[in-house]
Amino acid sequence: MSFILELKNISKTFGSVLANDRISMCVEKGRTHALLGENGSGKTTLMNILFGLVKRDGGGIFLHGKPAVIESPLDAIRQGIGMIHQEFMLIPQLTVAENILISVMEKDRKSSLKDARARGEELALNFALKDKLRIPVEQLSVGERQKVEIVKTLHQGADIIVLDEPTSALTPQETEHLFEMLNNLTLTGKTTILITHKLEEVRRYSDDVTVLRQGRSIATMRTGDTDKYLLAEMMVGRKLLFTLNGKKTAPGDVRVRVEGLSLNDRGREVLSDVSFTVRGGEILGLAGVDGNGQQELSDILAGVRKPTKGGYLIEGLPVPFGARRLADNGVSYIPGERHNLGCASQLSIEQNLVLKTYNNRAYASFGVMRQNRIRSAADALLKEYRIKAQSGEVVVSLLSGGNVQKVILARELSAHPMFLICVQPTRGLDIGAVEYVRNSLLAARDAGVSILLVSTELDEIFALSDRIAVLCGGKIAGTLENTPELDAARIGLLMAGGTAPSERYEAGGTSI
Ligand SMILES: Nc1ncnc2c1ncn2[C@@H]1O[C@H](COP(=O)(O)OP(=O)(O)OP(=O)(O)O)[C@@H](O)[C@H]1O
Ligand SMILES: [Mg+2]
Repeated sequence: MSFILELKNISKTFGSVLANDRISMCVEKGRTHALLGENGSGKTTLMNILFGLVKRDGGGIFLHGKPAVIESPLDAIRQGIGMIHQEFMLIPQLTVAENILISVMEKDRKSSLKDARARGEELALNFALKDKLRIPVEQLSVGERQKVEIVKTLHQGADIIVLDEPTSALTPQETEHLFEMLNNLTLTGKTTILITHKLEEVRRYSDDVTVLRQGRSIATMRTGDTDKYLLAEMMVGRKLLFTLNGKKTAPGDVRVRVEGLSLNDRGREVLSDVSFTVRGGEILGLAGVDGNGQQELSDILAGVRKPTKGGYLIEGLPVPFGARRLADNGVSYIPGERHNLGCASQLSIEQNLVLKTYNNRAYASFGVMRQNRIRSAADALLKEYRIKAQSGEVVVSLLSGGNVQKVILARELSAHPMFLICVQPTRGLDIGAVEYVRNSLLAARDAGVSILLVSTELDEIFALSDRIAVLCGGKIAGTLENTPELDAARIGLLMAGGTAPSERYEAGGTSI
């Protein structure tokens, strides 16, 4: 058997963290190869080594059976390797055409600009990006940006395309579309390596799968010979139950009352007259296709953004505007965009963990931080949330994607909020961590917290919510009890903008 790519005994340490421990992996041409592993198990590091972004300590890379020298991304690109990162690497102010064009100028300075442009535009055409060529990248949706990344990589001549969690920010429709595109690429002989935490994606879209655990490769198998239980066990090293243990007691009285929230953004009606309630000990799921006002609504409730009209009350008292004052009113926020809003990447984990409570007496006296107390509180959270890091002093920007998310969760849940707003709380987490976070949310609910769960993943909404509200075009299209009889199609219909006759009387929100 000849492989297009072989990684042999790749090792890498960062300080005392052994991120890759003699990892070997073989990839066949024209196939989709999934790379699976818990948060911090070394997936991104391994692929960054292949792409020349991280220098390995030991081991070798072989392309078509021959040793390859890859010291920089440019080396990788020249040898037909492309990588699409968790955080995109496009230049937001430049247009789609410009982004595609500059990507090849580095590689091949000799080819004429005209040729390069023509080839780039032809590729863009194949990917239905023709209308977008002259538009700045910052105006595109996440799905479209990703398409630009793929076109860019192909234009650079990639035969092997690595995608690091490509679907974590995509809607289900965009996800379908992405895999259709990737499937067409493998049919033309391209090889894709797919990092994902979603076992369903591995099952449906990959041919082979390699599992990493704690920096080691556990096995490579044909996907068809595995199932989700086996994969989970290989990843985590123990059996996962895939069950949730919330007790579901009857919710209490209405605690959070959102009244007539509207937002007009430069003439566009982003939210119109949104009203709903959340009781104590209740999870209200907010379903909807991404881009229907969820982001703006959560930002307003969290005090990051001002509404044009309306407001909300907790326990009958109006909640003042502003993030700081919100924190004092018992509101916690887990934003969907973890890098800018969620945490301060340049600060340490412990500093991030006490960000909300820094002027709490336990942590500061007379304006001086009590470092020891901060440290021991942070250490306890690191352990409880299984955050993988050498110590609490590590800067957050060095953590693996999932571990950043765990830091935010730990901080917000440990603040014992009355009202918790969480947007895509399990995005980017491995399956063990997903189980843990979901159980933590259910436990918080059972302890009486009111939770607004915003998610584009219907599975998550159904698994956790007591009631489900659907946001469509900035309006609440309906609110339904989440009973076992609830038909997913009804929610789907509301998400798509339809209102079933029986739901009409509920339109507008509060069905209590
Ligand atoms: N530049 C760095 N400096 C220090 N530690 C690092 C650096 N890059 C990665 N690490 C550490 O190496 C380990 C592996 O990280 P990596 O990003 O490869 O994990 P991952 O499998 O991609 O995880 P995730 O699923 O959360 O994205 C982690 O413990 C991480 O904190
Ligand atoms: Mg990663």
